[in-house]
Amino acid sequence: MRVVSVEEPSAIAEAAAIIRGGGLVAFPTETVYGLGANALEASAVRKIFDAKGRPSFNPLIVHVRDAAAARELAAAWPPAAEALAVKFWPGPLTIVVPKRSVVPDIVSAGLGTVALRVPSHPVARALLDAAGVPIAAPSANRSTELSPTRAEHVAKSLGDRVEMILDGGSTEVGLESTVVDVTGDVVVILRPGRISLDELNRVTRTIRGVDQPEEEAPRSSPGMMERHYAPRARLELFDAAEIEEVRRRVAAAHERGAKIAVLLHEELPVESELYVKLPRDARMYGRLLYETLHTFDDGGCDMIFVQRPPVGDEWAAILDRLQRAAR
Ligand code: TXA
Ligand code: MG
Repeated sequence: MRVVSVEEPSAIAEAAAIIRGGGLVAFPTETVYGLGANALEASAVRKIFDAKGRPSFNPLIVHVRDAAAARELAAAWPPAAEALAVKFWPGPLTIVVPKRSVVPDIVSAGLGTVALRVPSHPVARALLDAAGVPIAAPSANRSTELSPTRAEHVAKSLGDRVEMILDGGSTEVGLESTVVDVTGDVVVILRPGRISLDELNRVTRTIRGVDQPEEEAPRSSPGMMERHYAPRARLELFDAAEIEEVRRRVAAAHERGAKIAVLLHEELPVESELYVKLPRDARMYGRLLYETLHTFDDGGCDMIFVQRPPVGDEWAAILDRLQRAAR
């Protein structure tokens, strides 16, 4: 594995050559780092599943340079897809549409649909331009682990399973893209992200997907059910009103020699060696969340207490990731 700064003049050309040659490159997007391969070559895409240890039933997102390139991979392009693409691309929105047969089945895990996204990060865009092919890219981490928001996180998680990591610094959004399904009468959010329900509803009628952790829940977005986006340590959510109990449990854990992390968005009376207060601003919080959880993992903590985020549409993605991590 080579970590190459995007400031290196030949970085993009080298990365593009690896993609065209059927290899894997990790690269920054505005959301999280992606692990990319030529989306039109099944043998290259297979390497993504192997490197991540990802179950084959979990489909990948295909990154393209613009809406015209997206339509080339779509068997149908409903009006809602067009409206959303015009408003939010390039940007952190992934649109699920019926797939054309040029997209290998391994990309979509055998589904008849494909998830498409035009990223806004200049490095992702330059790589797409230079490679000249659509790039399938899930988050560049081992399956079920925390997503990477820095090149170091990718190196830590994937090591030599990836040929090259393009280092473009910290990502801006910090949480994975909003995923919407536009194949039905109404647009359905399969995974919440920075682009919120309210924002989507201003463009086209949108509803939240069924979010049921139960085994029997329908797998509308395969791969969204298991414990996911998770740090190594056990994570538990609490309300500010429960701070006394949390304080007691942290103190008791300290007695046993355990290392406990606490993540808050308000000043609350609890003492811990790993204590982080993030801003009570959903954008800033979202940008820093994974970064903070990576720090906790690196600090070797045994348990993480997280103050439940505020109520509100702009906090939906953060709550979603924290609930999955807490499972
Ligand atoms: O921000 C992001 O979306 C990042 C960056 C790298 O673009 N990528 C990412 O990919 O988070 P991944 O593979 O970690 O998550 C892809 C999500 C999964 O929840 C998957 O189930 C869903 O998209 N998905 C992919 N194809 C789908 C399809 N055809 N139908 C329904 N859901 C799909
Ligand atoms: Mg992922």
